Amino acid sequence: MSRRPSGSTGAPRRNSSPETREIPLAHDIVMPGYSITISPGILESAGIVVHAAARAHRYAIVTDINVAARFGQRLLESFDPLPAQLFTFAGGEEYKTRDSWARLTDDIAEAGFGRDCAIVSLGGGVTTDLAGFVAATYMRGVPVAHVPTSLLAMVDASVGGKAGVDIPAGKNLVGAFHQPCSVIVDPLVLESLPRQELRAGFAEVLKHGVIADAPFFDRMARAIPQLAQPGGEAGHAMLEAVRRGIAIKCDIVRRDEREEGIRAVLNFGHTLGHAIELVSHFAIPHGEAVAIGMVLEARLAERTGVAEQGTRDRIANALAAAGLPTAVPADLSANALIAATRADKKARGGTVRYALPRRVGAMAGEESGWTIPVDDAAVHEVLAGR
Ligand code: GLY
Repeated sequence: MSRRPSGSTGAPRRNSSPETREIPLAHDIVMPGYSITISPGILESAGIVVHAAARAHRYAIVTDINVAARFGQRLLESFDPLPAQLFTFAGGEEYKTRDSWARLTDDIAEAGFGRDCAIVSLGGGVTTDLAGFVAATYMRGVPVAHVPTSLLAMVDASVGGKAGVDIPAGKNLVGAFHQPCSVIVDPLVLESLPRQELRAGFAEVLKHGVIADAPFFDRMARAIPQLAQPGGEAGHAMLEAVRRGIAIKCDIVRRDEREEGIRAVLNFGHTLGHAIELVSHFAIPHGEAVAIGMVLEARLAERTGVAEQGTRDRIANALAAAGLPTAVPADLSANALIAATRADKKARGGTVRYALPRRVGAMAGEESGWTIPVDDAAVHEVLAGR
């Protein structure tokens, strides 16, 4: 990460030219073709940063109705005097659909936005994916910038260019790779994030520790129980969760932008996690489903001799201390979950392939494209608690 040379931490001067406004002191992570700007207070200057990355004629801000109420006006003002307009949809995973994509696209077209526009997502992972897909397809592709407002979207969904929607057969089965022109992360927005959503983000932060950095995993496992409490989001540990969480994802995406190899490790916990979301009809939100999926898949790795014994317990203890669930609710049938894993994009030739840890801090499967085929029988055993 490098330091941006400008130095003001104050709010931007309104109605001045966007080119001459100062922006808060920031840490940037440079990716091929775009930067991720991380800075407390940057939301007030987000429009300037987006404009510097994509000099569009107009900016279409896509956000859900809840996030619009919290941050929509502040983001709009950050574009002043540039033309920007909010386009909203109903929030929640159940709205990450082709219908929402169609409605947003129609609204943006009816408002007269042309090929010289850019899309700006403001929100959590659902918004990032949906707005990214609108941008990937609108007029055959216009730039997209992400302004994530959930921890999950900061450390995962806003980075790496995955965009798409869910369909009845499975999550994210229709989509595109569409890299952002800019990602703007203001950790201060997490202060108003509901606790349940903050905890969901900790599942992805801990996942990144499992994948690549055991000391980071341990530091986060110690810090998160306190961070997850009301008022516990400020300070160094939260900034580290955001910065290191993003940096780990960036390191992997830089090596494999289109998931032809190592990027698959980011799906640890997601094969069974997505199945849990689908079978629960999204009653179990993404972060919680991923937490349960991580515990199950770590056990699967132990049972198949891939992971060191004790890996599952170390992960489960950290997730439980964060207030996240670690076991499948009894009303979700094992058969239904296993059937749902077949829709996973990593399934090949009828066999489901999993991204599995070797231990906390290292993933297995380098020799087989970073995924490992697992028989349904082993998954049944793990779902039965063995
Ligand atoms: N969320 C996993 C990935 O971006 O590859």
